[in-house]
Amino acid sequence: SAQSRLVIAIDGPSGTGKSTVARWVAQDLKLSYLDTGANYRAATLWCMRNGLDLTQPETVETQQITELITTMPLAQDLNPNNVSVALDGQDITEAIRTDEVTANVSALSTRPQVRELLVKLQQQAIESRPRIVVEGRDITTVVAPDADARILLTASPEVRMARRRQQLRETDQDPTNVESDVMVRDAKDSALVDFMTPAEGVAEIDSTNLSLEDTVTVVLAEIQRQVNAK
Ligand code: DC
Repeated sequence: SAQSRLVIAIDGPSGTGKSTVARWVAQDLKLSYLDTGANYRAATLWCMRNGLDLTQPETVETQQITELITTMPLAQDLNPNNVSVALDGQDITEAIRTDEVTANVSALSTRPQVRELLVKLQQQAIESRPRIVVEGRDITTVVAPDADARILLTASPEVRMARRRQQLRETDQDPTNVESDVMVRDAKDSALVDFMTPAEGVAEIDSTNLSLEDTVTVVLAEIQRQVNAK
């Protein structure tokens, strides 16, 4: 039977466990899952592969980026059990997680016209799969302010850095600069989007003292509360 629209919006900085939590929530509620950070990362990789030097953002014109994004052959699997991203049929699920891509994303994400394009793509994805968990920085405020449940997931800077350090170790990367990395990225990311304070009607959940499992439990209860209150 046809089921009605159910859009869950989850925002927050990195290191809160946001992606894992959002994916588990989608699995639990049998919803689709859209990681919008992966959108920004894929667009960044596409620009890099098409010769834009994003390490020198001042030499790159916004129009060069928007033209490339308009023709980007992106395929993102919205199944929470099989998270994968492809460009032109080639799997880039791992390639978008490198330090290089991570460092270059802000060359795109700090430009309003680029955000506008990516927000449109994300809204189209939601229209095509209207029972979905959408995760990012501006979902509760810009991409889906009319979502059925809206949550801001936070954690203390110390815990976020510790989690990031752990993540780097697990993937054999150097954790030495984690402090400046996290801080610099937060500062760049928050230039256009405030993802540290909850907008009106958005519930803040602080995961500082919660395990991943407990965070999922609290998030699921909050979703239930907001959906019932509608
Ligand atoms: O969540 P993440 O680390 O995968 O996100 C990658 C980058 O994309 C991050 O630096 C911020 C940016 N981003 C954004 O500006 N807006 C979103 N909705 C999602 C991500």
